[in-house]
Amino acid sequence: MRLVVLVSGSGTNLQAMIDALHQGDVEVDIAAVGADLECAGLDRARAAGIDTFVVPLSEYPDREQWNRALQRRVASYHPDRVVFAGFMRIVDAEFVSVFPRRIINTHPSLLPSFPGAHAVRDALAYGVKVTGATVHEVVADVDAGPILAQVAVPVAEDDTEAVLHERIKSAERTLLVNALAKLSWDVTSTDPDLPRS
Ligand code: GRF
Repeated sequence: MRLVVLVSGSGTNLQAMIDALHQGDVEVDIAAVGADLECAGLDRARAAGIDTFVVPLSEYPDREQWNRALQRRVASYHPDRVVFAGFMRIVDAEFVSVFPRRIINTHPSLLPSFPGAHAVRDALAYGVKVTGATVHEVVADVDAGPILAQVAVPVAEDDTEAVLHERIKSAERTLLVNALAKLSWDVTSTDPDLPRS
């Protein structure tokens, strides 16, 4: 299964995917890692010898043109799946329609609770005792697509946002790798419902 992974941050979810493929735990090929800005995730890709690209929003006159540029760049690698692994930009409906059912996102909450960019902060503020991570298909609405996998993570009394997010990310990395392993098996199996390239 050929992947393009998009990142915006530290890239530990990407690293978990790279480690899993090096260990032979998942049958995926990361064709490229893209980002909307220079970030540590791109350095992890470069260190692993993976092709990288950056499509900065600031270099385009508007979001529409940025979406089209990102879309073209991703499509040029002909991926079976596009993985948003800590990619902090929202893509538009046309971008999603170009890769139908092929975009996977990982999110640090138990969706549909706490969608959006501040999921961990919002969960803490609400006072939930259990939160988690979700791997789901991307649809035009943000953090709303069909759920592929979830893991629950307990919230401790004295958690800060950073401490809780690290606990979630630790579980999230395994969740994402396992979800990709299952998807890669489905892509190479005979499941007629799953799109393939
Ligand atoms: C993850 O928790 C992801 O769900 C969220 O940002 C974090 C990215 O972490 N959107 P990393 O860049 O993979 O380390």
